Parts: sequence; C-alpha cells; structure tokens
Amino acid sequence: MVKRMSVALVAMMIGMSAHAADAPDIQIPKETQAHIKALGCESCHGWTRTKFGPSWQDVADRYRSKSSYVYKGFNSSSPGEELALVPGLVKKVSKGGKGEWSDYAPMAHIDQKGAHADEITDIVKFILALPPKK
Ligand code: HEC
Repeated sequence: MVKRMSVALVAMMIGMSAHAADAPDIQIPKETQAHIKALGCESCHGWTRTKFGPSWQDVADRYRSKSSYVYKGFNSSSPGEELALVPGLVKKVSKGGKGEWSDYAPMAHIDQKGAHADEITDIVKFILALPPKK
C-alpha cells in the first residue's frame, strides 16, 4: 500500500515538472492529456504560450462569456453557420478554418470524418473551463 502510493506520487511529480513551464492553472485530467498527445494539438498550441496557433488560455478568455460560435471554415467573409459554442469549436478543430485569429495561419482540419469527435469535445470543454488569466 505504502509502496503503491509512493509510485503514484513520483509519477505525479514527474508529470507536473514536465509541464511546469507552460501549464494551465488547473490539473489536466490524464485522459484529456492523452487525447491532446494522440491528436498532436501541442505541436501548434501551448496552454499559455502561442505557437502556430493561439494559446489555449487566450481561446478560453475569448469565448468565456459566449454561448454560440459562427463556423466559417476557410471562407472568413461568408456568413457562416451559427452553432452552440462547444459543437461550433469542435467543428472548427475537426474541419479546420481560418480568420478568427488574424495573427495566425489557417488551422488545417484534424478530424475531417469525425472519428475523434468525443476526444475533441473533451479537449474543447477542458480548454473552455480554464480559469481566467491572472
Ligand atoms: C498545424 C497546427 C495546428 C494544430 C495541429 C492544431 N491547431 Fe488549433 N489552431 C491552429 C491555428 C493556426 C488556429 C487559428 C485559426 C484561426 O485564426 O481561425 C487554431 C485555432 C484553434 C482554436 C480556436 C478556434 C477559433 O475559431 O477561435 C481551438 C479551440 C483549437 N485551435 C484547438 C485545437 C485542438 C484541440 C487541436 C488538436 C485536436 C488543435 N487545435 C490542433 C493551429 C493548429
């Protein structure tokens, strides 16, 4: 019992130090972290640092008070399709799009066929739940 606890503690400490430089203020659930790794989101996004796309802290702060999202895909001058916030952002991540963050290139589609809709929904919900920037 004692041995098992210490193994868990060490694993936790390794996990924490690995993300200390760019970590959200809340603990990332293991499953969410695994989805993010598997789908390769971190090659373009940091939690608090920008990379090829906006930081997820900025994404959370931008959509915090919103309940809907207009998905415009790759045609940012189109009227777009108004969706509830979570499904709208899931569609953006899955099918790609551009123009919401003018500093960045378009985001390529990650999951064109919707095979990872559950994982992407889980990640998007976690991003939106990040506490406000201090
Ligand atoms: C190849 C680089 C790349 C990868 C990989 C990537 N993204 Fe993005 N992401 C971007 C860029 C660039 C933007 C900004 C697009 C824009 O301006 O509309 C973006 C925007 C976003 C947004 C904000 C969308 C909006 O319209 O405001 C979310 C949320 C997001 N990404 C989540 C994810 C998740 C989750 C993954 C992994 C499943 C992921 N991204 C993988 C580059 C990437």
